[in-house]
Amino acid sequence: MNLEKLCNEVKELARSTGEYLKTEQTVLRKRDIELKSTRNYVTYIDKEAERRLVEGLSRLLPEAGFLTEEETVGFEQKEYTWIIDPLDGTTNYVHGDSPFSVSIALMKENEIILGVVYDPLAAQMYSATGAGRVFLNNNPVRVSSHSTLTNGYIGFGIPYSLDERGEQILRNAMKQFRKCSFRIKGSAALEICYIAAGVCDAYFHSGLSPWDVAAGAFILQCAGGKCSDFSGGDNYIFNKELVASNGIIHQEIMETIIQGN
Ligand code: IPD
Ligand code: CA
Ligand code: CA
Ligand code: CA
Repeated sequence: MNLEKLCNEVKELARSTGEYLKTEQTVLRKRDIELKSTRNYVTYIDKEAERRLVEGLSRLLPEAGFLTEEETVGFEQKEYTWIIDPLDGTTNYVHGDSPFSVSIALMKENEIILGVVYDPLAAQMYSATGAGRVFLNNNPVRVSSHSTLTNGYIGFGIPYSLDERGEQILRNAMKQFRKCSFRIKGSAALEICYIAAGVCDAYFHSGLSPWDVAAGAFILQCAGGKCSDFSGGDNYIFNKELVASNGIIHQEIMETIIQGN
């Protein structure tokens, strides 16, 4: 497999799907917006974007299976699996807001080997195919060197279904509000990439799904960052627990925000 060539083809597909999202946002009508549950929106555009990605990615790698948010195709364990979120940031999207993104990861057995996240409004394409091979458009990027929570620029999100642990973590974070700048941007995939590009220093979120995390986490690690679950382990894609950081402030985030010390 020529991973660089495949990555370029995936980027083209992410770009054209992103253009579709961008155009459709301008004509989206209230009656096209549905709710999966309270404040959890979905539209025909999420589903159509996913259908286009599945079709395009199937052409690129016919033997691969899929794990997708809108389930336009069923999950089947194969050697290669595409993990995709056709529209990450639907809440922003239905309110005519930004950002939102297209997120695509390729997993070989249990390892992610390629990640692409595209923000069509900002025309920003994040991609990675391995350590040190991570780009924002055509420019190589790296994580920040910010070393403490004090004056940190920290992203987080609030899951649609918030359990007790998730709520406690948000309370712990609140105690740090005077120390650093917190941001909720509303597209997990992009918010993880912001750390890869050195814009943001860390991000935490409970209740995320594999399609929110897989591509961004791979991109971040290739840019020198770190991801873990809430115990500090490696189960952050499938376990609904994510702490992502530039690596340097990871321990402090774990102690203050996750453990609440
Ligand atoms: C959501 C976004 C949001 C996060 C939610 C996700 P969606 O994805 O990433 O930032 O807070 O938990 O579900 O539903 O817009 O694809
Ligand atoms: Ca969704
Ligand atoms: Ca998502
Ligand atoms: Ca989505």
